[in-house]
Amino acid sequence: MNKKTVKDIDIKGKKVLVRCDFNVPYDENRKITDNRRIVAALPTIKYLLENGCKVILCSHLGRPKGEVKPEFSMDIVAKELTRLLGQEVKLSKDVVGPDAIALAENLNAGEVMLLENVRFEPGEEKNDEELSKKFASLAEVFVNDAFGTAHRAHSSTTGVASYLPAVSGFLIEKELNFLGTALENPERPFMAILGGRKVSDKIGVIEALLEKVDVLMIGGAMAYTFFKSMGYNVGNSVCELDKLDLAKELMEKAKAKGVKFMLPVDTRIGKEFKEDTESKTVKYTEIPDEWEGFDIGEETIKLYCEELKSAKTVVWNGPLGLFEFDQFAIGTNSIAKALADVDAVKIIGGGDSAAAVEKAGLAEKFTHISTGGGASLEFLEGKKLPGIEALQDR
Ligand code: 3PG
Repeated sequence: MNKKTVKDIDIKGKKVLVRCDFNVPYDENRKITDNRRIVAALPTIKYLLENGCKVILCSHLGRPKGEVKPEFSMDIVAKELTRLLGQEVKLSKDVVGPDAIALAENLNAGEVMLLENVRFEPGEEKNDEELSKKFASLAEVFVNDAFGTAHRAHSSTTGVASYLPAVSGFLIEKELNFLGTALENPERPFMAILGGRKVSDKIGVIEALLEKVDVLMIGGAMAYTFFKSMGYNVGNSVCELDKLDLAKELMEKAKAKGVKFMLPVDTRIGKEFKEDTESKTVKYTEIPDEWEGFDIGEETIKLYCEELKSAKTVVWNGPLGLFEFDQFAIGTNSIAKALADVDAVKIIGGGDSAAAVEKAGLAEKFTHISTGGGASLEFLEGKKLPGIEALQDR
């Protein structure tokens, strides 16, 4: 990585503002259901504390859209951080107001505090200059470790970097090392598995990956747009009728580039969008009217698993079916299980596919599970991430 990290500057004893991505899922009782993003931020936080820094953490949680909404309070994160660090993490009552300023001023070396949800401030998502200056006035150094939010040009991710020495934390460094190396210097065969709902969400990443991979496997609802573009009936399946030409073009591009472009050969279909709906497996050419495709079929699972056995690098983004419903999670879970045993560099590009691998209890079998959903997708597309661009070059 060509950006400076906390190790490249003198941070001893300094007051440091650290932007993390603590945007974690939580249930109706405000219990955090997946703390991976908080755990992933610990190495940087611990390093700063060990170096006698006064640490001011900040993040967004959900989308409160510039309003103070208690259900989006960072209190649950402060509690989890306190537990994980084994030391108190005070939460300020505001973001950059009097309480945050007072708490930051009174912070001692080796102490850590957390600001309230940065998206309570209307200026945050507008990358407002005044707000960026207020963030900067709290500290002497800015550290960005929010990989999951690096694709957003907001005050607390990029704006603040104009007013303080700005470097990356260890999580961003690690994410860029894994994702970057896989893309730039993959051991071959290099295979990608792409799932998800819409072709339109994945055009950029499909096009970028066609330049790099040897095999591209498609799953998820976007497969039905490809089937339709080949002239087959897809019943009630999700299908983007305005993307049929594009789907054809992508297949032609793959052919021209010599990339093996694999589509499901069968699909698990259901009568309704319901957990316990009647379901069956059919060939991709034989989806009846009134039925909807929700998963890849057994034949496809076999084919994909067989192909993956010879992979040396695999990047996976997006579940292969409606994995929230058990009967349509079979494709995603089977691929996750098979991949767990493949001897290759295996990278999960965040979001739902990461959740699926976690849910299957297979996380430790993968080389890297990204903490970024949208951010890792944009990185795989080859886009520049503003939260990283804003940091000092080495
Ligand atoms: C994410 O969960 O992908 C990040 O935290 C970014 O959140 P956002 O999509 O609300 O900007």
